[in-house]
Amino acid sequence: MKVLIVTAHPRQDSFTQTLAQRFAEGVNASGHDVEIADLYGEGFNPVVSIQELEGWKEGQVSPEIRAWQERIKHSDALVLAYPVWWSTPPAILSGWLQRVLTQGFAFQHIAGRTEGLLKLRAQMLVNVGSRQREDVNLAALYLEPLIGVLTYCGMEILPTQANWGIYAGADPALLRVHLDRAFDNGMQFFLESNHKNMV
Ligand SMILES: Cc1cc2nc3c(=O)[nH]c(=O)nc-3n(C[C@H](O)[C@H](O)[C@H](O)COP(=O)(O)O)c2cc1C
Repeated sequence: MKVLIVTAHPRQDSFTQTLAQRFAEGVNASGHDVEIADLYGEGFNPVVSIQELEGWKEGQVSPEIRAWQERIKHSDALVLAYPVWWSTPPAILSGWLQRVLTQGFAFQHIAGRTEGLLKLRAQMLVNVGSRQREDVNLAALYLEPLIGVLTYCGMEILPTQANWGIYAGADPALLRVHLDRAFDNGMQFFLESNHKNMV
């Protein structure tokens, strides 16, 4: 089995990238494969163009987006690792979802119904600056829109790993706790017992 981890952070030494790496090590330790797709590192352009929007009406997708869709098709799971920026994922990740999860690839409309086409397991690794877990209603504020998009496209969602207290001068012991959780989540990602936790 293989996980595609999509990361969205401009700094290579960010906690987001470190956490994704640790999660990947957990997946590898469980005997499965990982590909990390660093959206900034790959220079992904998140802006939907008018040509692209017009092309979608005709069922056309650019070679660049087709290549991303192939990477998803060759994966069994999708993990999104990102910081919360003003309650949303960074623009580069929102744009990636907008451009890559196209009709006909991610979902289709049949006889007045919508069918999700991506039979993948998915999980989010989300960093927030808030100092206490209790400070924010993570699910309502930050996660529900994205979970809605992924389930619409057919994915089964594992509980989000929310990492709170990530800011300059954060408690190193807390960072270690989050990194250990990432490794464990990676290790357990493909366990069948994880099914019972899906939303
Ligand atoms: C533009 C911007 C907006 C942010 N908005 C929020 C927010 O809405 N809620 C929050 O808890 N933290 C917010 N933060 C803090 C980041 O979530 C935090 O710095 C990040 O998780 C740290 O992880 P990193 O090292 O991977 O960047 C924001 C940070 C930036 C730069």
